[in-house]
Amino acid sequence: MSVTVETAARIAPAAVIVAIDGPSGTGKSSTSKAVAAALGLSYLDTGAQYRAITWWMISNGIDVQDAAAVAVASAKPSIVSGTDPLSPAITVDGVDASGPIRTQEVTAKVSAVSAVPEVRARITELQRSIAAAAADGIVVEGRDIGTTVLPDADLKVFLTASPEARAARRNGELKGKEAADLAATKDALIKRDTADSSRKTSPLAKADDAVEVDTTELTLQQVIECVVTLVEEKQAAK
Ligand code: DC
Repeated sequence: MSVTVETAARIAPAAVIVAIDGPSGTGKSSTSKAVAAALGLSYLDTGAQYRAITWWMISNGIDVQDAAAVAVASAKPSIVSGTDPLSPAITVDGVDASGPIRTQEVTAKVSAVSAVPEVRARITELQRSIAAAAADGIVVEGRDIGTTVLPDADLKVFLTASPEARAARRNGELKGKEAADLAATKDALIKRDTADSSRKTSPLAKADDAVEVDTTELTLQQVIECVVTLVEEKQAAK
């Protein structure tokens, strides 16, 4: 039996661009990776890109509170993101940065760096070019993907959860001595959300046409299934 090109085109799911936004601890990364892997889509962790540029600033002695210095330096590092959901990779000037970008120091400083407009302009351009190159479609996770980076995304999802649930999840991710007590984790998380939501340039925000999913009472598997269904509905409608 032969499958004509026309039939194959009808069978192959249409390439979709999926934007998944929300504050930290809502299960964004785990959900985005699993959805991309399940549907054969590429994956981009935009938080990792902001963390990578923050790590470069720290490593190169730039004062992250000095927005002018951060702006000038922002063009210098070469940041390359992998898009395989099964092994997300990120390098800075050719060096694997996947470990160093997860330290408490980077986490504490990333909001200041990512609030600088020149940093956002540079990283946004990078994100758009990666999404445009993903022939089979892509899941892009972040804070401003649906509102600013990819306003024409086929599907926009905004994940939320109570601060208590988010702090408990975040504490579970931190290993060994970096795991703080729950109250401290919750305070740090709320502080970062406030900074990310109140910055002038493309703050953390839900797009008007995003589907909001409150994950407080859901298991990760339930959230994944919910988003996979939403993506499949969009693919079928394309
Ligand atoms: O998702 P994450 O916690 O790794 O993100 C780290 C920081 O990067 C977050 O505090 C805000 C910033 N960020 C952003 O400003 N815009 C994005 N699209 C993604 C992350």
